[in-house]
Amino acid sequence: MQGPEEDAGLAGKVALISGGGAAGDGIGNGRAAAILLARAGTKVLVADRELALAQRTVEMIVAEGGTAIAASGDVTNEGDCKALVDTCVERFGRLDFLDNNVGIGSRGSVVAEKAEQYRRVMQVNVESMFLLSKYVIPAMIKTAGGGAIVNISSISALRPRGLTTYSTSKAAVIGLTRAMAVDHGRDNIRVNCICPGPMYTPMVYARGMSEAARSQRAKASVLKREGTGWDVGHAVRFLLSDHARYITGQVLVVDGGVTLQAPERESQEH
Ligand SMILES: NC(=O)c1ccc[n+]([C@@H]2O[C@H](COP(=O)([O-])OP(=O)(O)OC[C@H]3O[C@@H](n4cnc5c(N)ncnc54)[C@H](O)[C@@H]3O)[C@@H](O)[C@H]2O)c1
Repeated sequence: MQGPEEDAGLAGKVALISGGGAAGDGIGNGRAAAILLARAGTKVLVADRELALAQRTVEMIVAEGGTAIAASGDVTNEGDCKALVDTCVERFGRLDFLDNNVGIGSRGSVVAEKAEQYRRVMQVNVESMFLLSKYVIPAMIKTAGGGAIVNISSISALRPRGLTTYSTSKAAVIGLTRAMAVDHGRDNIRVNCICPGPMYTPMVYARGMSEAARSQRAKASVLKREGTGWDVGHAVRFLLSDHARYITGQVLVVDGGVTLQAPERESQEH
């Protein structure tokens, strides 16, 4: 019997990945999703504020025989969001998938955080997803008769730990996901969200991370290890694929069980 498990519905489709670059040859969450989608036959527009980083992702995909193009764009800028969508449709003729991946970190309480930084984090982590979706959704409807979107949140939205503005922004991403899923189900567009835990990506190690900090991150997981961009990339590819065709408005936690643990209890037991 021919079932949907025979075909993930990714080949020949077109994806736009925001923040699909990564420093050096590092594997960020967006770069991993771009490479994995390309391996399944999806054509990918890799968008990044830093063109060279997006170009490196494209080189990696092309070296494996995949199809991808790089485009520079700051997704906090509405004109750039529109231009990215236009480029995607002009170059590939359609748009089926969006990985809303851009996000920046921030540390501190409401007392410690500057209001200006709060506004910047909300703009980069939430408004960017609103703006890009505003142009992507009509293009999906027009060129593909529907599609699928993944918004990247964080376990900080579910279990805040001293990253107050970041946690607030990532909780807003969950709200945005659920609202978009309700609004656009009738357009044959599914919208889901991923909450990554501690993934070892360029965003994390570019700021410098000691071995002690890494081992603490690993210990927070019930699997006793950090994740990588690939773990998020596989989850993105699943949620965009037809294997997830009846899943919408959901939050998929990819954290090695970090959110299952209460660190204070763990320290009592060991
Ligand atoms: N790494 C983790 O442990 C972790 C955990 C939870 C959630 N996340 C989330 O995953 C997502 C990706 O994280 P990552 O660790 O792969 O990051 P990364 O920094 O390695 O990659 C993100 C890319 O986004 C680009 N970018 C930043 N601002 C941009 C903008 N305004 N417009 C266009 N491009 C922009 C950067 O140039 C970079 O290439 C983020 O939303 C982050 O909050 C990461």
